[in-house]
Amino acid sequence: MSDTTAQSEFEDAFHKAAERHERIWVFIAMLLLSLLMIGTLFFVVLDYGVVVKTDGYHTDPAAVGATAPFADAALVRIGPNAYSVHMLAHLWAWTPSPLHVPQGATITFYVTSADVLHGFQVAGTTINVTAVPGITGSVTYTFAHAGTYNIICNEYCGIGHQSMIGRIIVEPERRT
Ligand code: CUA
Repeated sequence: MSDTTAQSEFEDAFHKAAERHERIWVFIAMLLLSLLMIGTLFFVVLDYGVVVKTDGYHTDPAAVGATAPFADAALVRIGPNAYSVHMLAHLWAWTPSPLHVPQGATITFYVTSADVLHGFQVAGTTINVTAVPGITGSVTYTFAHAGTYNIICNEYCGIGHQSMIGRIIVEPERRT
């Protein structure tokens, strides 16, 4: 066996070994990623279900402004210090507005749109829901402080977008 042949065999063996190691590491990486993905999906489904639960529901955008409960445009008492209101977005206003609520009240807003996408954001709060025609979303918030809160549309919706402002007036608690 010449020196050249020995060197060549050594090189072949080395390359084969290196490739095998590469394959093994790639396999391990893929296995870890797969386990991570399966684990993530498992725990997400365990916690939230396959379809994320919501108290939203479907609405008819063409009729939503003329039919209950969106046509009523009122604060509805649903429990001690708890209320619900159906908030309708349309080009370019919010109904009902101004909305008077008592201080400390927990309000559940059901939000939809009669026409195009709008964004229901209440400045100074964590309220931020997209108003989607055909779908009603919901958000619950407790107004601990009295004052006037601006409802602002944060989804561009046409020429009147920047003036699409509503008001929520939180009336101070009466002390007796
Ligand atoms: Cu409504 Cu922007």
